[in-house]
Amino acid sequence: MAISALPERVPRGDVVAQLNFFSPPADGAVPFNYVDTPPEGEPQRNFNDDIRDVLIEDIRGRESEFAESPASLDHNAFLLVQNQPPSAEKDFVDDESIRKNYYPEVEALLLKHVPGATRVVFFDHTIRRAKKGDVPNTPQSRGPVLRVHIDQTAHAAAGRVRRHLPEDEAEAALKGRYRIINVWRPLNKNPVESSPLAFASSASVRDEDVITVEHRYPKERNFIGQTAGIQYHPDQKWHYLSGMTGDERLLLECFDSEVLKKDNATVKGGRLAHTAFTDPRSVPDAEGRESIEVRTLVFGP
Ligand code: OGA
Ligand code: FE
Repeated sequence: MAISALPERVPRGDVVAQLNFFSPPADGAVPFNYVDTPPEGEPQRNFNDDIRDVLIEDIRGRESEFAESPASLDHNAFLLVQNQPPSAEKDFVDDESIRKNYYPEVEALLLKHVPGATRVVFFDHTIRRAKKGDVPNTPQSRGPVLRVHIDQTAHAAAGRVRRHLPEDEAEAALKGRYRIINVWRPLNKNPVESSPLAFASSASVRDEDVITVEHRYPKERNFIGQTAGIQYHPDQKWHYLSGMTGDERLLLECFDSEVLKKDNATVKGGRLAHTAFTDPRSVPDAEGRESIEVRTLVFGP
């Protein structure tokens, strides 16, 4: 018998797993989350967890359904791009090197696959390296996020445009179409064996289940961002891509200004709820998932 240890290590197919949803603060207060250590006497966050068993469908085997833009991006708010050549960036440890080598590749990818895109502005990236066993990650060594969320609200997206474009360009840009898109890829040498990313088709998520959360930075930074927590609803359609590889990219659209147009019936995307999840099928010594997400503003048409 041929030795094929690798494929069996990779969980495949639809799975029921626990996802951690938002549940509002009992006292009706504005939901908040402190990015770092909270001020004395305050909790890290004031909202609650609502852990649910959710069916997460594997899009492996149906990749082409989710690789067509604009339909997929405008409806689901995610898009799969495959068969990317090896990156000029080899190590993904040095931020400056990543900006120099990897960002141009991400820019070219977005201009090619996001219909109407004319300009890409980068604003940050996060590298995640899950630790083996129970060693918790710290803010300096970030691991997968086990909480259903969207990175920005509409208010935060406009704030990003004002913050990252020159003053004289921001107001004009805000009158056109602007999107926030994360480009996500694994960095493991082998197909992902643990903590895959799950994402819900934007069209399946109700507006009333997307809840603004104040994202409070350390006092010195004098800045409050906004993210969104997501309430569970049985109509949500959750997906993941099993055994994702380093030549695959997921475009995660966190915001699309088209959704602000009340008469726009075609765009149901623009707010991709997502989270990592613990796959109950992962083998005990599964390799920790490593990944990078690059956050961008995409302008046009
Ligand atoms: C993201 C994100 C979580 C993860 O890319 O915005 O939330 O576990 N990622 O990779
Ligand atoms: Fe996110």
